[in-house]
Amino acid sequence: MKQLKTLVSALMIGMISFQAHAHSAGDMILRAGAISVNPNEDSDRIDVAGLATLQGVNVDLDTQLGLTGVYMLTDNVGIELLAATPFTHDIKVKGTTIKAGDAKQLPPTISLQYYFGEASSQFRPYAAVGFNTTIFFDEDVSQQLNSALDGIVGLPAGTVDASLELDPSYGLSAEVGFDYMLNDNWMINGAIWYADIDTTATIKTAVANVSFDVDIDPFVYFISVGYKF
Ligand code: NI
Repeated sequence: MKQLKTLVSALMIGMISFQAHAHSAGDMILRAGAISVNPNEDSDRIDVAGLATLQGVNVDLDTQLGLTGVYMLTDNVGIELLAATPFTHDIKVKGTTIKAGDAKQLPPTISLQYYFGEASSQFRPYAAVGFNTTIFFDEDVSQQLNSALDGIVGLPAGTVDASLELDPSYGLSAEVGFDYMLNDNWMINGAIWYADIDTTATIKTAVANVSFDVDIDPFVYFISVGYKF
C-alpha cells in the first residue's frame, strides 16, 4: 500500500511537471524578434502649385527589432503592447524613379487579445483588436526631389530647399498570431497586424507648401522568440 502511494504521488508529480502551462491569468510574456512594416499605400496625387501633378508616392518596407509584452488578464485574454526600434521608409514619387526622401516612424500599438485553447495547450493561436499611434520624425527630402521641383517651378538648380512633414496617425489595428510553447517558459511566436495608418504629408518650400494625403495601411509581420514569466 505504501508502495502504491509512493507510485501514485510519483506519477502525479510527473504529470504536473510534464504539463506545459502556457499562458495563465497573471502571466507576463516578453517576445523579441524581427518585425517588418510593409506599406500598402494609397496616395493622393500631388499638385505642385498648379504647375505639375505628380502621381503620388510609394513607401518602401522596412524591417527592425520588434518587442511585444503581454499581460494575461485571464487564461484567454491578454493585453499586448508592441514596440520596435525606429523604422526608416524610403519614399518614392509614384511612376518615376525619383526618390522623394525618407522618414522614420515608431508605431506603438496596444491590443486586446483573445487566446484560443487552454492554459495547458502547447499551441495558442490568438486574435486581437487594437489601437495604433504612428509618430513620424526625421523626415528628409532628397536632393533628387529638390532638383525636380527646381525644374517644375522653373528656378535655377539648387534653389528649392524643401522640407517634409508627416502628421501623426491614430487608428485601429487588427492582429492574428500564435505562440508555440517549447517548454514551460520559452515559445516561438508569429504575428501579423493590419494597421490603419493615414497621414497628411506637407512639402514646404520657400515658394509654396503642398499637402497631400497618404494612406499607408501596412501589414506588419513579426517572427519572434518569447519568454513567459
Ligand atoms: Ni487607412
